[in-house]
Amino acid sequence: MESYMMDWALMLLRWVHVITVIAWIGASFYFVWLDNSLEKPQAPDLLQKGVDGELWAVHGGGFYNPQKYLVAPKTLPANLHWFYWESYSTWLSGFALFVALYLMNARTYMIDPQIYPMTASTAVLFALGFLASGLLVYEAICRFSGQKPWLVAAAMTLLITAASYLSTQIFQGRAAFLIVGAMLATMMTANVFFWIIPGQRRVTAAMRAGEKVNPIYGQRGKQRSVHNTYLTLPVLFAMLSNHYSMMYNHPMNWLVLVLMMIGSVLIRQFFLLKHKRKINWYFPLSGVAIMLAVFIWIAPRPASVQAQDAEVPDDARMLALLQTRCTGCHATQPTLMSGPPPKAVVFESEADLRKHANTIFIQVVQLKAMPLGNITQMTDEERALVARWFEKQKL
Ligand code: HEC
Repeated sequence: MESYMMDWALMLLRWVHVITVIAWIGASFYFVWLDNSLEKPQAPDLLQKGVDGELWAVHGGGFYNPQKYLVAPKTLPANLHWFYWESYSTWLSGFALFVALYLMNARTYMIDPQIYPMTASTAVLFALGFLASGLLVYEAICRFSGQKPWLVAAAMTLLITAASYLSTQIFQGRAAFLIVGAMLATMMTANVFFWIIPGQRRVTAAMRAGEKVNPIYGQRGKQRSVHNTYLTLPVLFAMLSNHYSMMYNHPMNWLVLVLMMIGSVLIRQFFLLKHKRKINWYFPLSGVAIMLAVFIWIAPRPASVQAQDAEVPDDARMLALLQTRCTGCHATQPTLMSGPPPKAVVFESEADLRKHANTIFIQVVQLKAMPLGNITQMTDEERALVARWFEKQKL
């Protein structure tokens, strides 16, 4: 019952998280598109009002005519809509999920003693340390190279590469990917919380007080918002790819993550330019080329070569093997984790083995996702045994 309640809580939380992400990233995509698509107005009355860019769009049965004022309109409207809860609720729901899924199950989902042995509380500290120190380094990068976009891009690539490498040397691949994603997502929300919104508050306060508006606040906000645009696809990739062990279980998983992120930024760049009616195929083609290279590079090799005299285990031998490596979790009463057996998969009889033969082969031989975090230290020879047992099933 307890784990049933927990599953509901997690399901609702994940649902809320995805909804808030859509609201935030959707609004962000829209405003980036809008900003890049605006045209200088011609009409004298618009120029007179201080309109710097405008656009006509048709959507959902009506025509829209957004106008952008730089730095601000001459008088503030009484009713001004702000965009920040989308971002804050994304971070809050994401952090809650991170705590409930990972930090509270550090032993199962974060620690791999073969990568880096540590206690659960150390793992939690390291994970929080990643989020905090990522933010500090990012702030330093913005301060010291803020005016030079190429320098920021180079420094960010270095920071993300270093973070990916470090986290994969400390955590299970899956947690490592998620932590890099959470680190970048924290920077994005911090941009909204510490820079974009406070800047807008200063501008509106100055206007209400009838003072001159300092354009620096708008410029700073714009810079952070541009950074967020480039971080969007990498963050989404880090969040989703941790469901695919072909990505996070590769021996050089940090490089897989970095390359896929770079590929996604190149594709985003194409769309950003396209909004400005500049078509540059170099960007998406190189993005896709990078991803294609990763696809070829990490493709699974055909399951272990069959030596002529290699042992082909029978079902009893296989059951004995899985009972040393798997039933800590996959039994009616798991001992290595709390709650019911994961995905209701148990290995308690030879019939169980035959029932799950296909997924066992996929999880153990092809993906190497099981045993989870290789907590029970299954060897490559044992994986080869599973492969030969599976081949025999097919005969
Ligand atoms: C530390 C606990 C743990 C150990 C040990 C473990 N598993 Fe799992 N297993 C899980 C969890 C948790 C899941 C649920 C999927 C997930 O969270 O990735 C799972 C899911 C599975 C699935 C279902 C996959 C699916 O998506 O349908 C199979 C099959 C499986 N494990 C096989 C094995 C085999 C075979 C072993 C031993 C070689 C093993 N597991 C060892 C925790 C474990």
